[in-house]
Amino acid sequence: MSWDPAQYRRYEGHRLRPAIELLQRVVIDDPTRVVDLGCGTGNSTALLADRWPTARVVGVDNSTSMLDAARADRPDLHWIHHDIATWAPDEAAEVIYSNAALHWVDDHDELLPRLVTQLGPDGILAFQVPDNFREPTHTLVGETALEGPWADVLGPLLRSWSVRQPEEYTRLLGPHVDSVDAWRTTYVQRLHGNNPVAQWTKGSVLRPLLGALTSADADAFFAAYARRIARAYPAEDDGTTLLPFSRVFVVARR
Ligand SMILES: C[S@@+](CC[C@H](N)C(=O)[O-])C[C@H]1O[C@@H](n2cnc3c(N)ncnc32)[C@H](O)[C@@H]1O
Repeated sequence: MSWDPAQYRRYEGHRLRPAIELLQRVVIDDPTRVVDLGCGTGNSTALLADRWPTARVVGVDNSTSMLDAARADRPDLHWIHHDIATWAPDEAAEVIYSNAALHWVDDHDELLPRLVTQLGPDGILAFQVPDNFREPTHTLVGETALEGPWADVLGPLLRSWSVRQPEEYTRLLGPHVDSVDAWRTTYVQRLHGNNPVAQWTKGSVLRPLLGALTSADADAFFAAYARRIARAYPAEDDGTTLLPFSRVFVVARR
């Protein structure tokens, strides 16, 4: 199943805040070659282009639907259909940036040192990944997947995530770069609407599971997951719902 740009964009404002805060920590003068890995619909790429208007800014993604949306919004930028796991730039980049994408790529022990080799001297690798895999948003995915009639289909699709803690990224990247700055932030997102946490997850982590089911099973699976999520994230008195949203950030300078 491909990514769904409209579902992903429902929470665009909430999802973009970590992207902006990551970018604020990337301190470099006038880079000419900037890459956004896992650029999606191009929201994060547009931030990079606005920050460095004279740079050649390239967005890389393996989803044609996300890239189509990105290209339609910003035909002036460069969009490449490629898997991050095997991507390499034609020329060394000065900034390799990635917001909310590298957790989809396995084996960070191999991936991150290799990305550093694709930077020029003093180049910066900056990325942000979720750190909420032990939260109900994620644990209830596995629980719901393994308890329904869809268990045989979904069980093999449940994945372990490659995301590490800030201190682990510091140790991993330390020998390959001049400096590493790594940290964790928990945002408390105030969401509106009926059971909005289920809708939030539908735009990201549920996506490959829903795509593996028939439409009737996908609806039933999502309904079962949404019931659990409604209990785990009850609405506040004012009708909004609070979602703790933890992220790990890393900025490494070669
Ligand atoms: C959560 S979205 C983030 C999009 C964008 N960076 C943003 O901040 O709005 C994750 C994106 O990573 C892309 N992605 C996931 N795995 C990928 C891979 N192995 N190679 C390339 N892109 C990948 C998905 O297609 C999706 O567009």
